[in-house]
Amino acid sequence: MNMNIPYLDLKRVTALHGAEIQQAVADVVNSGWYLQGDVTRRFEHHYADYIGTQHCVGVANGLDALSLTLRAYLEMGVLHEGDEVLMPANTFLATALAVSDNGLKIGFVDVKEDTLELNADALRNRVSPSTKALILVHLYGRCTYTEQVGKIVEEKNLLVIEDNAQAHGCMYQGKRTGSMGHAACHSFYPGKNLGALGDGGAVTTNDEEFAHTIRSIANYGFSEKYVAKYKGRNSRLDEIQAAVLDVKLPYLDEENRRREVLAQIYYEMIANDLIRLPMKMDSFSNVYHIFPVFTSHRDKLKQYLQSKGVGTLIHYPIPPHLQTCYRTLDEASVAYPCTDRLAQEELSLPLNPTMTEEEVRYVADMINAFSR
Ligand SMILES: Cc1ncc(COP(=O)(O)O)c(C=O)c1O
Repeated sequence: MNMNIPYLDLKRVTALHGAEIQQAVADVVNSGWYLQGDVTRRFEHHYADYIGTQHCVGVANGLDALSLTLRAYLEMGVLHEGDEVLMPANTFLATALAVSDNGLKIGFVDVKEDTLELNADALRNRVSPSTKALILVHLYGRCTYTEQVGKIVEEKNLLVIEDNAQAHGCMYQGKRTGSMGHAACHSFYPGKNLGALGDGGAVTTNDEEFAHTIRSIANYGFSEKYVAKYKGRNSRLDEIQAAVLDVKLPYLDEENRRREVLAQIYYEMIANDLIRLPMKMDSFSNVYHIFPVFTSHRDKLKQYLQSKGVGTLIHYPIPPHLQTCYRTLDEASVAYPCTDRLAQEELSLPLNPTMTEEEVRYVADMINAFSR
């Protein structure tokens, strides 16, 4: 008999802490205070403590977190229009959008096929005199910082911005991702490891001036009420989302541990010559936001798993450099062979803390029975 295993059932995810979430939302509804209040400030403090930074500024979503970060560095004179910002070619479109939206130049760097992390040799070759910053994207929940990358950014004096949208709770040598660069950007999109019940995002940093600048730009550019220092915008984390996130944050490590236990079952059980698994990482340097597998028979495998009741997704079918919106970029004509291959071959298996071990074993069994 087939089991029915959707890729991600958010109703089940919310139900894990259903009563507490309902109460927290009701408290905000009854408080009459919905924006820029104590609940958001409390969550910002808790999240900064969790990540290990001095400051956290809640914003409306992850794309805004990235975009506001670059804008703040432009306003502070740390970056200048036309500066090049590097990022892995294998990333979600939002990382690139934030750079181009700010009049900065996008530079892509290919990734490594086994570990999926940024290719440090390619990074070293790609840095030019106009390169001023690197966005490190901890994609799939995997920390992409390595000692080699650390050496290059120090040598080349690059500003380091982490895109931690997919890696809440991830650690590298005792530090959380999100505390390793000059600034880090987080998304609380509902499907993330720490997800809201709508959009949400945050920027974490140890730089007080930068944190103030972000907060101000995200609030119309006001430095004090109705006094605008910048041509700002409106991008705020609201009190209801902050309340939900504050309920869920204390459970994040436990849920990431659960993800790891389930991922180990995939690693131990999946044995099919047609399927490659990504290299296993140390505990907690991967928080298994996405469990990707790779096969040259991707579309057939996806269809086959669907016929067995297993939902999957593709992260992502078109990398940014091949998107229509970037067809005029110099980068559009450059080959990123590993990224291009991943886009052709990646399939994400269901993995979240609400799944049972039986469900994960069923998915692995179905994969093992797949043939071309
Ligand atoms: C790597 C990465 N960066 C940025 C974003 C953008 O976040 P949001 O959807 O909250 O705008 C996402 C998520 O969607 C993401 O996965």
